[in-house]
Amino acid sequence: MPDENLTGTLDRRDWWRSAVIYQVYPRSFADSDGDGIGDLPGTTSRLGYLASLGVNAVWISPFFPSPQADAGYDVADYCDVDPLFGSLADFDTLVTEAHSRGLRVIIDLVPNHTSDAHPWFRRALAAGPGSPERGWYHFRDSDPSDPDRPPNDWPSEFGGPAWTRTPDGQWYLHLFDSRQPDLNWEYSGVRAAFLDVLRFWLDRGVDGFRVDVAHGLIKAPGLPDAGHSRAELATLPTSAAPFWDQDGVHEIYREWRRLLDSYPGERVMVAEAWVNPADRIARYVRADEHHQAFNFTFLDTAWTATELRERITASVAANEPVGAPTTWVLSNHDVIRPATRLALAAKERATQLGPPVTPPDPTVGQRRARAAILLMLALPGSAYLYQGEELGLPEVLDLEPGVRQDPTFARTGGARLGRDGCRVPLPWRREAPAFGFSPTGAAWLPQPGEFAALAVDQQVGVPGSTLELTRSLIAMRAEHRLGEGSLTIVDPRTVLGDAAHGDLVVVEVRSGSSVTHVLLNLGPAVVLPEGARVLIASEPVSGAQVSTDCAVWLEL
Ligand code: GLC
Repeated sequence: MPDENLTGTLDRRDWWRSAVIYQVYPRSFADSDGDGIGDLPGTTSRLGYLASLGVNAVWISPFFPSPQADAGYDVADYCDVDPLFGSLADFDTLVTEAHSRGLRVIIDLVPNHTSDAHPWFRRALAAGPGSPERGWYHFRDSDPSDPDRPPNDWPSEFGGPAWTRTPDGQWYLHLFDSRQPDLNWEYSGVRAAFLDVLRFWLDRGVDGFRVDVAHGLIKAPGLPDAGHSRAELATLPTSAAPFWDQDGVHEIYREWRRLLDSYPGERVMVAEAWVNPADRIARYVRADEHHQAFNFTFLDTAWTATELRERITASVAANEPVGAPTTWVLSNHDVIRPATRLALAAKERATQLGPPVTPPDPTVGQRRARAAILLMLALPGSAYLYQGEELGLPEVLDLEPGVRQDPTFARTGGARLGRDGCRVPLPWRREAPAFGFSPTGAAWLPQPGEFAALAVDQQVGVPGSTLELTRSLIAMRAEHRLGEGSLTIVDPRTVLGDAAHGDLVVVEVRSGSSVTHVLLNLGPAVVLPEGARVLIASEPVSGAQVSTDCAVWLEL
């Protein structure tokens, strides 16, 4: 009998340490009212699907009032729901329904910046230079040596400078789009306001927060020049940039953690912190800070055995000193979908993709994505799935410029395609308008024909489909308690003897008395030793032969 506590019931302590968490990007998940933008009632209507997939929690990307300049990551009111997505009552229903199915609910918190439509920013603009209202943000005068130059050389993540000038001549800082002014976290009013925001949602029953840009809240004193371009900074330790990973961020999270811990149940924080080296990211998951941080080191891994082995080891080692579990992440709404990314010739992140893009072989992409999920879901710690990953959806590379909405595309003059390609609405039913995403057939981004064969109704109940593979993996992960285990990278020769080669990743996962091996083959086919029992495989294994880009779980 599977232990009930493993299947997502809500009274389990430390649930987050081994949880499988599913990211819902609400505008692309399910649309109930037919306007082409997914919404909270749509999400609620699909909770049964998520529960039957076996995940323990959902993380829902922003649904707050917003001009949608960055798909909702530009928040104009932290304590309400945008009518595009529904109402607070719809949110309450979602939480109640999720909890009744044993699913926890994590919401997005966007503290680094607001929308330029937020009343705090409107007030700051109106109050003028030198006013206390401007203290909520980073307003500065021009570079003293040149009145037409911004106060420093910081680049925006989305392209162009990180400063925009106001009609009165001052500039304001925005590490992202010009419609996302950065808050000044040195200002006590900002800190107090966010404690109220946290309380508001905790009181409504949320189980936690995904903290957007957790490494960005504090800037180096005096806002000094970075002295490097964005590309150069990417090659240095993250804190070399005077706006990333500054030590002052941590006291903010300690204060939040105290608040979360004062609530019943285990409410959690997961940091979105694109930080290296690994020991710096571990600082975000010290016992009195976040519970988890996304493991982008793993996400960024090239499809090579050497790098996979190194990064799995490094991820675990980095967290050990602070006692935090590792997370495993392959996908989210900001990166190229793995079914495409893992087959690209060069290792590229979604935000770096620029035209022309030669679409990689979809068959290779599918195989690798399935093998990668099989590897990921064997690893101890918590794992994240991004909606559509369980269907093997590819990145949509050929969206017309006119439909693209990610500000990155416009701010770089099209040199970077941006992230729309991983945000295309989900296909639920092959023979339905918008593949069942919306009742009217409207969809805020057009869905490609290739989504038809990948729709949920084409995969559900079909043995070997990526959906059924994922469901089985999640169930077996729970059954073998892999999430709670410990891992060792082993020499492939110990399993395969002389048949082993260098393009294999073999991980031994021990949990209680159970020992499971996951073997991923990135090279020529190998034959398993006699007696090895295949628990599950990403591709059919015939004659004990594990083909290229196939992964298996084994009992030896
Ligand atoms: C995070 C979000 C991304 C957003 C950015 C600015 O990286 O994941 O989608 O654009 O923050 O809020």
